This record gives sequence, structure tokens and C-alpha cells, in this order.
Amino acid sequence: MNRNFYVTTPIYYVNARPHLGHTYTTVVADTIKRYYQSSGINVFFLTGTDEHGDKVVEAADKEGLPPQEYADMISGAFRATWDKMGMPADDFIRTTEERHKRVVRLFLQQVYDQGDIYFSRYGGNYCFGCERFYLDRELVDGKCPDHQVEPQYIEEENYFFRMSKYQDWLISYIKENHDFIRPERYRNEVLSFLSEPLEDLCISRPKTRLTWGITLPFDDRFVTYVWFDALINYISALGYPDGELFHTYWPHANHIIAKDILKPHAIFWPTMLKSAGIEPYRHLNVHGYWNVESQKMSKSLGNVVDPLSLMDTLGLDAFRYFLLRDMVFGLDSNFNHEAVITRYNSDLANDLGNLLSRTLTMAVKYFDGVIPEPGKDKSATDGELMATALAATRDYRMYMEDLAFHRAMTAVWEVIRRSNQYIVESEPWTLAKQGNRGRLSAVIYNCLESLRTIACMVYPVMPQTAEKIFASLGLDPELVRSGLAGSDDWGKLPSGLTVNVPEPLFPRIETKEKPAPQVEQKQSSKPKKEKKIKKVIEPPAEITIEDLQKVDLRLAQVISAERVPGADRLLKLEVEAGGRRTVVAGMAEYYTPEEITGKSVVLVANLKPVTLKGIESQGMILASENDQGRLSLLTLDGVGKPGARVR
Ligand code: MSP
Repeated sequence: MNRNFYVTTPIYYVNARPHLGHTYTTVVADTIKRYYQSSGINVFFLTGTDEHGDKVVEAADKEGLPPQEYADMISGAFRATWDKMGMPADDFIRTTEERHKRVVRLFLQQVYDQGDIYFSRYGGNYCFGCERFYLDRELVDGKCPDHQVEPQYIEEENYFFRMSKYQDWLISYIKENHDFIRPERYRNEVLSFLSEPLEDLCISRPKTRLTWGITLPFDDRFVTYVWFDALINYISALGYPDGELFHTYWPHANHIIAKDILKPHAIFWPTMLKSAGIEPYRHLNVHGYWNVESQKMSKSLGNVVDPLSLMDTLGLDAFRYFLLRDMVFGLDSNFNHEAVITRYNSDLANDLGNLLSRTLTMAVKYFDGVIPEPGKDKSATDGELMATALAATRDYRMYMEDLAFHRAMTAVWEVIRRSNQYIVESEPWTLAKQGNRGRLSAVIYNCLESLRTIACMVYPVMPQTAEKIFASLGLDPELVRSGLAGSDDWGKLPSGLTVNVPEPLFPRIETKEKPAPQVEQKQSSKPKKEKKIKKVIEPPAEITIEDLQKVDLRLAQVISAERVPGADRLLKLEVEAGGRRTVVAGMAEYYTPEEITGKSVVLVANLKPVTLKGIESQGMILASENDQGRLSLLTLDGVGKPGARVR
């Protein structure tokens, strides 16, 4: 395997502040960086800002600032956002930096000397928003598909890059290198575009129209077209042509972009590199678009999601997890408040949060917090847990390297769910009661080891969580950063370390109001008052004494209990409450049938029956919920006879 890896984001325009879309791409790049680093590979991660062109001049004018001052401000906002989100890149390139301009001029000169740049008069449909000419066939109903405006016909003398000369080479290259552009849908899109004749690319703008750009080295009446300038950032930051970083990392370049900028990256850039005599990048990785509440995110709609406010309300790791779990890389996705909360509560508060707290609590209760020996008293369920973890690790790696983050996370969650199930099946509480220390140590060790494996796998996506899990296991949290390097085997967790039970990592979110991430308000300088997600359980609305009297609460005794086949969380209970009845309760994660049998509980006796998994449930039993979502039965042992009213 290659020992080096180079990952880049697009350099973002400084005409808008960082939002959810930019954040997704940067989180993807940071996750990839962490994944490879934790596998022992050297990674260089580049991001930055694109600061030339009409759009920036226009935005600066609106603010009444000179373009450089304006660019400094917004570029600073991007850098600060990535810093606050714990993902500073190894380098942050700005196209107004001298080191970049120097390489752009050198590159232009090389392509010019090669005979691939010529001067000509050109008339065409120009979209000022995109800063490029459009072919008729690229327009939708005569309008630019991105800006929904009719382009203007303009005629100018300009310099052109002989892109058409490299069309056949590019087609063969894409065909021979199957994963050059991925996922495949974008490779197909590019090949289909290339099936029509490719036009040459206009790469200059006369200074009479635009001065905010890099002057051409061979004609100072012109500045460089912003895309020709911007794409070169990927090598100027590495110190092309002689820089050591360039030689080390360029052969392993992985660009991450969204579908909006496919054409410049898939067509302009490889042909530019070919002309300059530079090897193409290794992969172009293209993702889809985030829409917000099913609408395109845009300033004019006022629905632009601010990543920092979302991070404050949700927590950094939960935000990162949501982005990677809920978008299939390559397809569009919808950002929706309910989806965020549902994902958080089910995957993080419930599955992962519970596994962590119950495992550590048991280690403290049964072994005074000292990690026991794995022991020799093995059972088939141990083997199943280990096999699940090892298979998941293999799948996880494959998916991460394929950028199928949602699948990688699903593989990890299989281990989490299997581990929760393992606890229920192994019944450590019964082993403790029976004094079966040998088996008990094996079970607790396996749960802790499973947590270690899980931490290594969630690290690239949820770095803080992984570090906290390592710290709770008594391991040096720093070690999780290299956790995947050669750790595909089971049983690495040393016995004898002391664990501790951390504060709940993901307290459940209960909310009635929409958890509004800060949304930029259209034409308003005052930020809208932030509505926080309430991380508390809100009391229900007040009821009257008459309402209360409608509820028939009875003391009930559980006579027998069994699991409901095909439903991990359900138990079927036979209860005595002045008459026998069947109740289906969602308690299987917290009580075994044996533990619950014989308990005196409180039954809501006049609840309308419902059918669950084909069983009619005639009532509900009361339980209290702790802040990690764990349920405990409200028991009233020895207080009265089954069927007695509870008031
Ligand atoms: N400056 C150019 C890129 C030059 S790279 C040599 C540019 N900048 S941009 O600020 O418009 O950023 C576009 C990129 O931001 C997308 O390709 C994507 O990475 C990210 N996103 C912006 N909005 C997005 C969504 N709504 N959804 C997902 N990502 C999107 O284009």
C-alpha cells in the first residue's frame, strides 16, 4: 500500500461565508485524513480560498471594501470555522498569495511554450455568475442551469487553451483508469460530455473588463480566467515544480468536490496538467448536494445552514456523524431537523451511549473498574461477537476507502448492536449472582474489547468520542489516532487497566420546537435569535385531576415472560392484575425474561389494546428513564395484592 496520501477540498469562493455544503466537503476530507493517518499513512490535507474574479469584486463592492480587504475577511472566516471545528488543514492556500501567483505564471508559460495557448476573437453566451461562456447545448431553456439567468452574448479578443487537442487522450485515460472519477455516475457523465466535440477554453479576461486576477506572463493587458488560476492551487501549495511536498504527495492526489464543479475538475484540470507535462491526479471524488428541508440552500431563500451554530447545539461529533451517515456519497441528501434528532437519539444516545455506559458500569460494579482477564471460559456467543467485530472491521475499511461512509458506519453499528445483544444474552448480572467469576470476566472483557474496536473505527468520523472511549478504558487517548494501524485482531486490550465511567456522551434530545440551526437571515444584519435544542426532558402539558382519574393504574405481578421472536426490544409478559392479561413491553434490552418474572409492577390497565408483532398488548407497564435512555421498571414489591389500585 502507498505510504502517502494527499487530500484536497475545493478552494472556496470568498463571496459567501462557510455553510453546511462547504462543511460537508471539509468534514469528508478531514475524515479521510484521519482514516489514513490512523492506518499509519502520511497524509497531507489542503484547503483554502479562491479569491479572484468578477464574483469577488462584486461581493466586495457590495460591502464597500477593496477586494483584497474583503477577501482577507472571508478567507479568515473559513479558516476560523475549520479551526473551531477541529479540522485545521496542513496548509491553507489563498490564490492571492504570491507563492500561488508565481506558480500560475510558471504554469501558463509552460503551456504557452508548448504551443497550447493562442490568441483569438470569440463571441459567445457568457454567464457572469459562473464566469464562463456557455454552449447552447449546455443551457436549460436558454438559461444557465446554475443561475437561472439568460447568459449575455459578448465578443472579445482573448487567449485560448487548446483543450480540444487533449480530448481523445482524456477519453482513453478515463476509460483505462476506471476509478479516476468516482462514483461511476460522474465518470459516465463526463464520458457522455466528451462524446461531443470539446471546445477550446478561454483562459483570459481583458483588463478593460476585469483587473482582479493574475496578469498573464505573456500579455499584461489580460488577467487569467479564475478557473485556470484556481485549479493550479492543488500544486502551488505543494511547491510545484521543485518542492519536496510536490514529489511526495502529488502522485497520491485525491480531490474531493461536489457535482457543481465536475467539469472544471474532470475536463479542464487533467488536460491542463497533460499540457504542462504533469501526471494527472489519482482520483476525483464527487459528492452530491445537500438540500435543506427539500429546498436548494441559497441566500435568497434564507435557508443557509451555519455549521458553527449546528455544532453548538448538536455537538461536533454528532454533527460530523450525521453528515457522513445520512448522505450517500455521490447522491444528494436532504438536511432536515427531525432526521438529525432521530439519528442522534437512536444511533448515538441509545445504541452507542448505552453500550458504553452499561459496559463500564458493570466493569466497575463487578471488577472494581479493573479490566479483567479474558479468561478461558469461552462460549459460542463470544465467538460470534468477535467474528462480527472482525468482519465489520474488514467491511469498514473497504467502505471507507470507497468513500461509502454511510456503509462504513452501518458496519460499525452492527458491532455496537451485536455487543448490546451480547450483554442481554450473556446476562452478566446472573453470572455475578451465581458467583461465576470465570465466565463473568470473559463477558466483561469482551464488551470492553468491543468498545476499543468500535472507538478505533469511529475515530475518523467522531474523533472526540473515540478519544473519550479510549480514556474511559484507561488507555492513552492519543493512541486512538493510530488505532487502525495493524489492529485488525481481537484481544489487544490489556487486562489490569482501570476504567472509569464518563459523563453521558450523548444525552438524549427531547424537543418540541424545531432545533433550528442558525440560519442566515435574508437582508438582515442582525442574526436571528437562536433556538437551542433542549437537552432536557420537557414536562408534558398540565392535566387536571379529572384527566388523571381517567387513568386506571393497578398493581400487577409478572407471572411469566418470554422474548418476542424477531423483535430485539420486546418481551411478552403474562401479568396478574385482578385477572390475567398479556402485555408487550419494550424492555428486552434492560431485563431478561428471568429477571422480570415475579416482579410487582405498575400497570396502566385501561389503555386501548394495541397489536405488536401479532400479539395483543392489553396495557402498559411503567418504567423510569435515565438520561441515557435506559429504562428501569417501577417496582412495588410487597406493597399490595395484584390488581390493587394505585393512586
Ligand atoms: N472556487 C470554486 C472551487 C475552485 S477549486 C479549484 C468554487 N467554490 S465554492 O465556494 O462555490 O465551493 C463549491 C464547493 O462547496 C462544492 O463543490 C462543494 O464542495 C461545496 N458545496 C457548496 N454547496 C454545497 C451543497 N449545498 N452541498 C454539498 N456541497 C456543496 O466552486
